[in-house]
Amino acid sequence: MNIAANPMVETNQTVYLKDYQKPSFLVDSIHLDIQLHHDHTNVNATLVMKRQTAGELVLLGRDLELKSITLNGRQLNDTEYTLDTEQLLINNAPDDVIIETQVVIHPENNTMLEGLYQAGDLFVTQNEPEGFRKITFYPDRPDVLSVFTTRVEADKKYPVLLANGNLLETGEVGNDRHYAIWQDPTKKPSYLFACVIGDLAVLKDRYTTFEGRDVSMEIYALEKDLSKCSIAMEALKHSMRWDEEHYGRPYDLDNYMIVAVSQFNMGAMENKGLNIFNTSCVLADEEYTTDAAIMRVQSVIAHEYFHNWTGNRITCRDWFQLCLKEGLTVFRDQSFSEDLQSAAVQRIDDVATLKAYQFPEDSGPLSHPPRPDHFVEINNFYTATVYEKGAEINRMMFTLLGREKFRQGTDEYFRRHDGQAVTVEDWVAALTAGSGVDLSSFLTWYNQPGTPQLEAQGSYDAANQTYRLDFRQSLKAHPRYPDLKAVPIPVALALFNAETGEQFSLVSDALTENQVRDGVYLFDQNQANIEFSGISSKPVASLLRNFSAPVNLIFNYSDEELAFLLQYETNGFNQWQAAQTLLERILLQDHPAEAYIQAIKNTLPELVSQDPLLASRLFDVPSEGYLGSRIDSNYEPEIIQEKRNAVLDKLARELGDFWQELYLNSDPDTQHEFSQAMGVRALRNIALTMLARQGNTQTFDYAYTLYQQTANMSERLGALRVLVWNDAPQASDALADFYQRFKHEALALDQWFMIQASNPAATAETIRYLTSHADYDLSTPNRIRSVSGGLNVNPVNTWSFGIEYFTELAKYLDDKNPIVGSRLLQVLSRWYTLSEPRRTEVKQALEALKPQVKSRNVSETLNSMLSI
Ligand code: TRP
Ligand code: ZN
Repeated sequence: MNIAANPMVETNQTVYLKDYQKPSFLVDSIHLDIQLHHDHTNVNATLVMKRQTAGELVLLGRDLELKSITLNGRQLNDTEYTLDTEQLLINNAPDDVIIETQVVIHPENNTMLEGLYQAGDLFVTQNEPEGFRKITFYPDRPDVLSVFTTRVEADKKYPVLLANGNLLETGEVGNDRHYAIWQDPTKKPSYLFACVIGDLAVLKDRYTTFEGRDVSMEIYALEKDLSKCSIAMEALKHSMRWDEEHYGRPYDLDNYMIVAVSQFNMGAMENKGLNIFNTSCVLADEEYTTDAAIMRVQSVIAHEYFHNWTGNRITCRDWFQLCLKEGLTVFRDQSFSEDLQSAAVQRIDDVATLKAYQFPEDSGPLSHPPRPDHFVEINNFYTATVYEKGAEINRMMFTLLGREKFRQGTDEYFRRHDGQAVTVEDWVAALTAGSGVDLSSFLTWYNQPGTPQLEAQGSYDAANQTYRLDFRQSLKAHPRYPDLKAVPIPVALALFNAETGEQFSLVSDALTENQVRDGVYLFDQNQANIEFSGISSKPVASLLRNFSAPVNLIFNYSDEELAFLLQYETNGFNQWQAAQTLLERILLQDHPAEAYIQAIKNTLPELVSQDPLLASRLFDVPSEGYLGSRIDSNYEPEIIQEKRNAVLDKLARELGDFWQELYLNSDPDTQHEFSQAMGVRALRNIALTMLARQGNTQTFDYAYTLYQQTANMSERLGALRVLVWNDAPQASDALADFYQRFKHEALALDQWFMIQASNPAATAETIRYLTSHADYDLSTPNRIRSVSGGLNVNPVNTWSFGIEYFTELAKYLDDKNPIVGSRLLQVLSRWYTLSEPRRTEVKQALEALKPQVKSRNVSETLNSMLSI
């Protein structure tokens, strides 16, 4: 009864949104019995199903060894069903069926980290989006919701046996084995099922919801890591309170468990009541973890918790609707993080991510709408577009509605759809009904690919004291989307008096037609204008404040106006944006650097003491990768590198003693708030790199001393980076010391790999040394990413020896872990922008890869990449 066909040959069929059909059968309940053994696992499932529509009874299953199947108590013989590599089809099923299957699976050999798999000494599941079908035969689609009862049985050397919901029973099986039975009272789709089997320690706490529910909270990790779980625990309690206060949503079960796993394809997973986390997104401790990673832990904890309402209680009808849960949940976690640290800096960091990953994705061969209309492999659509652009769409609606009306809209969404699997249309309709504001035009954002270009022109009429803004929007033509429409763009704006630095109040005669409310103008035509009266002198306009829409703004600011905004804009985000625009002009359009340098000199000394975190961001010189993504043809990474270094050298030189004084006179330990201390550490790390650029002979002594004396990972790594990247005499001692200190701390050791791989002077030899190191491990995605991500910090390296590295890696992972292989290959997706002969070289390397890969994941990505 084994699956006969060769499982290596995958059927690369395209799935279309327009073909959606309701499930023919629903599942009332499922009883799962998972018996783990060292060389195999038995899974018995009992499904109580009811017919909904005419149509076949289809159970999906992949890589399952079917041992037995019964229908309403009667064993089926193999003429009564059809089995292939993807599904089990039961012929002529009656309307009420109870199906029992017995299958054998092999978590001990599962390298794809999908379904049930072994990670070190631990067994865990990852079922989103389609992993459950690798555990048992099931209608594994998100619109089939059921009550899960799970029995987990294993050897007693694994004391921890977890599944979703409430623990009903535990017991022994003979002398060596034991079991636990769990039941999840909430109906859920199979992608939210989880179980965990292993030997872990646990950190416990409690939380009482506003409904008075006493929730037990548990974080499971290795004993040695337990001390690194308290930041996550605090963030979890904080998230629970935040969702109650901001969305009126309490937690709904009596327990909430988080399990930390070192081998995980992504960040974390929101399984109902039993989140599974990449260790990198839960373990946090200043001694082992950088400030940026600590912030990320808090935001991922919040993200997964917020999914409980946006994702779990209300889920997606089908996987095309992925951005329904991800876009909304990212928007919610970003808002949460804005309350944790400076809101402006959080927005800066989120927009920087959007521009560095989503904008390039949306302008290249992998471009797709936030809600795609077709896919081959859904795992390829966990993208920056679905997550980050999805979040931006929700933010735009929030900006337009304001806090109160947005809340009325979300209340309506929860009221209407709790317990359902819904679509993006349902979400927008509920927001519209609840707020009383028609938002249906925002659906266009979900259905079109590409970053709109927003052109604005300002004209001042001194005689009439009016200022007019003319807007025009356009989208790059796309072969598969011929009817691109104008999208609604909320433009948050301010007009500044150039002499006083004060803001003009916004008075417009056209308020009924073109409304500006709270400084937000909704531009939803191809072309429109708005005129402001009572403007007594030529103003400096600041557009898209707080990045109110995910568009490319073209506005003919003079460099002086940008320098003005850098100094006088009160919106911290637009202050940063002004600096970025200036720097981009210097780097890509050969503008002189003077205006930027002068504004920085005027602004920074004060800002450094008042808001060190924001100050640190004003020194952000756009990365080589981001700058490269702004170039659409004849891209030469070496030229970008050279120009960027020249600007950094200039900044180092022109600010002279400022850097040394900043380094010597600032102390993170005198700051009361974590975010301020983080700002001081960021500034001091920048100062160290600038001192090195100045050729300051004391730099390496400062860095080595800091390296040895600090107990803070941001400082230690900042110092180590300066030593290694500048090939300082102390570099090899410091590297050896770091290795000795942290060789048993996987996440810190990742940083050791990362620092060496991201050295601008790294060569193919460096990468070979790292990937043949005894601690390198191709079965741990975090370790792979520490080298691949490090290498890719320098596009000059990516586009030389990186080409072979990334294609080889994709080839290897195609078979072992295609989800990760496909994502890593995407690093090369902008190959077509390179200058010749490199462009052709990469193209040939990609074409040569094509016949060597089999997985749906890597094949689809490769085909798309080459289809430009
Ligand atoms: N739903 C998860 C999140 O955004 C994403 C996720 C976690 C995932 N692990 C995955 C997606 C594995 C695909 C494959 O929180
Ligand atoms: Zn998510």
